[in-house]
Amino acid sequence: MSLSIYRKYRPKTFDDLLGQPTIIQILKNAGRLNKIGHAYLLSGPRGTGKTTAARLIAKTANCETRRQNPKFQALGEPCNECRICREINEGRALDIVEIDAASNRGIDEIRNLKDATRVAPTSYLYKVFIIDEAHMLTKEAFNALLKTLEEPPSHVILIMATTEMDKIPGTIASRTQRFHFKRASVLQIIEKLKKIVEIEAIKIDNDAIELVAAAAEGSFRDAESLLEQMLNFGSPVGEEKISLRDVEQMIGKTGSAKVAAFAEKLLKKDIEGALNALNEIQEGGYNLAQFCKDLIHHLRRTLVLKLNPAMDSAFQNELAKNDLENLKKQTAYFQPEKHIQLLKNLINAYGQMRYSPFPVIPLEVAIAESLKL
Ligand SMILES: Nc1ncnc2c1ncn2[C@@H]1O[C@H](COP(=O)(O)OP(=O)(O)OP(=O)(O)O)[C@@H](O)[C@H]1O
Ligand SMILES: [Mg+2]
Ligand SMILES: [Zn+2]
Repeated sequence: MSLSIYRKYRPKTFDDLLGQPTIIQILKNAGRLNKIGHAYLLSGPRGTGKTTAARLIAKTANCETRRQNPKFQALGEPCNECRICREINEGRALDIVEIDAASNRGIDEIRNLKDATRVAPTSYLYKVFIIDEAHMLTKEAFNALLKTLEEPPSHVILIMATTEMDKIPGTIASRTQRFHFKRASVLQIIEKLKKIVEIEAIKIDNDAIELVAAAAEGSFRDAESLLEQMLNFGSPVGEEKISLRDVEQMIGKTGSAKVAAFAEKLLKKDIEGALNALNEIQEGGYNLAQFCKDLIHHLRRTLVLKLNPAMDSAFQNELAKNDLENLKKQTAYFQPEKHIQLLKNLINAYGQMRYSPFPVIPLEVAIAESLKL
């Protein structure tokens, strides 16, 4: 696997872009009807498909097959086979200019960009400028950009991408078509990882995939990078298959089963068992603050499900199936009037742990205090 996973598996069509159905539908319609806009602003958390979508817009706008074949145009997708699609996929299209605003923040760079927009594309229909990390531009740079956004030359498409929408001036945003990308759900990430694992014939246990997906915190790229890291690192036990334990070791985060088992001990007031398990987790070299955070999330979900069982549909996206089933079972032990205090104590402990040289102590104290009640 010479190409890194996240580059190799970057979606090549709108249909491959997971978890953003509304955005896909609007962009595909624009392609179908030949109504691709001149200025877009793509916002949302990291690793959710903004740069990918920008390149898809660039490809669809320019795809030769689409321009020559009305039947194909009706799909609203790029063909990925014509010369132009291939050039864009390989990152060697002269008329697609990607600018990293984090390192090109100033007015001079935007003036250069303006000059470049005046020059017609070399061989494409549209010249596409993708400004990544757009929130990093200076005030002066944004002002300089305003004019171009107001009256872009007809052969120009400007696409800005940002993780921090609130730092984009309203004057800029209002002159664009805006799309907000959603965080990926654990299930969507698992689905994509499973496909990659199958195609690449990677040997990895299911619970290991689930932990990789959960650790990515809503970013497809983070999940794919972590999977790749696991491949390079191999299994330290010398086994062929990557196991849950391998992933746990790599990221210092325990899998959901350990968190659930621990929560159950707390709910059943098994103080001895809880302290033993905590000791094991500490000895195992896991990040205790992370463990405490996972525990808080787990107990919070138990509380919510106890008070409102219909909320399980809201958790379906966040959790793997088994985890949700186990969570439901645990609500039997959850007594809101008692356990809300436990949750409060853990939240308190988490605040202290992150800055403490002895993170295990605030956690032990919180547990001891809560369970002796
Ligand atoms: N919606 C998605 N569906 C499938 N894969 C995705 C999606 N979003 C991201 N990926 C995967 O993550 C990689 C990075 O995606 P992309 O560069 O589009 O993220 P981004 O939103 O621009 O992130 P950043 O804000 O960090 O720049 C892609 O190459 C792809 O493998
Ligand atoms: Mg990006
Ligand atoms: Zn094409």
